[in-house]
Amino acid sequence: MGNILAVVGAQWGDEGKGKITDYFAQEADVVVRYQGGNNAGHTIVFDGRKFALQSTPSGIFNPSTKNVMANGMVINPVALLGELDKLVAAGIDKWQLFISNRAAVVMPYHSMLDGAYESLKGGKLIGTTKKGIGPAYADKYNRIGIRMGDLLDKEYFAQRLEDALQVKNMELRMLGLPECDFQTIYDEYCAAGDRLAPYICDTSVLLNDEIEKGSRVLFEGAQGVMLCIENGTFPYVTSSSPTASSIPVNAGIAPRYITDVLGVGKAYCTRVGEGPFPTELLDETAHYIRERGHEYGTVTGRPRRVGWFDAVAMNHARRVAGLNRMALMLFDVLSGLESVKICVAYELDGKQIDYVPSTISELSRCKPVLIETPGWKEDITAMTSYDELPENAKKYIELVEKATKLDVSIISVGPDRNQIILR
Ligand code: GDP
Ligand code: IMO
Ligand code: MG
Repeated sequence: MGNILAVVGAQWGDEGKGKITDYFAQEADVVVRYQGGNNAGHTIVFDGRKFALQSTPSGIFNPSTKNVMANGMVINPVALLGELDKLVAAGIDKWQLFISNRAAVVMPYHSMLDGAYESLKGGKLIGTTKKGIGPAYADKYNRIGIRMGDLLDKEYFAQRLEDALQVKNMELRMLGLPECDFQTIYDEYCAAGDRLAPYICDTSVLLNDEIEKGSRVLFEGAQGVMLCIENGTFPYVTSSSPTASSIPVNAGIAPRYITDVLGVGKAYCTRVGEGPFPTELLDETAHYIRERGHEYGTVTGRPRRVGWFDAVAMNHARRVAGLNRMALMLFDVLSGLESVKICVAYELDGKQIDYVPSTISELSRCKPVLIETPGWKEDITAMTSYDELPENAKKYIELVEKATKLDVSIISVGPDRNQIILR
């Protein structure tokens, strides 16, 4: 990597961002999560061990890497402590963590409301992770949110919590849910704040200092571009923007620093939760890919929906997230298929289009225009160079590059940190 690299999910999340971030974290001085919260589930596998991180940045395994949770995140302090305790119990105890005092706090009423809003939607669920992410961001923008730094000033926190509960308890009452008790939340969150106090700081100052002194900084996106609140398949999205353009505001740095943006995408597509998915497969191939790729949610355990690689969506990601290259993940999963397909355009009401329509009704009517190419039988999980790959596998990668106008600079052939081919 150069000095600054952004790793961005280019599909519907779960593309393998954790693996790529962990790989580069070996040489990064700083790893930064800049949006989302514990709705993310980033899997890292090394030395035969597997970890699933939710809020913590994926540089946490490298003792010399500074891990930053920046101001654009929504942080559940109780869940974060649980995550850190689990790492310590697993012998991962030499980490460096820095939590932005400006990051939004996820409160107990946020998760309650997340579940309640979903059940109110009847048949039109978003299928959220129910971690309170949407309601926490909503409160931030409604300016009644609480920030991590507030937990360190008990008097101010009490006042903010009291004000927030005025509104939140009214909402809970209207939804027929039990109200939240001030003292219970105050005590729990003060205790969590006390434990996290050593890590809470101004991470914008830290990041700017690091960048100015030439440190290698890695920005780790959560979710993916198609789940972006601005550019995704609204309303079937998360409540933050995982694009590279959101990094400056969400981390408190200048936009000029973000020039190398690595889009992480699977060699096929998956989606967990509801919403349109043009290349979705509902047949035997979906079953084959789901089982080979262990496509079950890291956070919720839900089976992931599976579809062919969607170059229309990837081009959308390239444009809106500023991708300049790509990591093609889970490539090993496709071995053994007679043929593989790539979606190169959508057919909407009898016309071919090469962009992602903004409305759900149009996107739901889009049929994928697929090109088919011969598959390969070989097990590629132990391959370490591009030249070793079967000819048909190379042809597939070339097709992806042509259809997306992106260089595939990394190919991942297994979950382990070392199962990676650099080009
Ligand atoms: P993230 O949210 O983008 O970090 O991705 P997840 O961790 O939620 O999901 C990716 C899944 O694929 C995890 O179970 C990884 O261990 C696994 N994985 C990552 N890269 C590869 C790969 O190249 N091949 C295979 N078979 N699995 C991979
Ligand atoms: P990582 O970082 C995949 C999906 C949920 C739901 C929608 C909204 O592991 O790639 P939310 O709880 O955020 O309000 O849910 O977004 N979603 C993800 N899907 N990977 C993720 O994160 C996701 N985070 C949220 O399934 O459809
Ligand atoms: Mg995930």
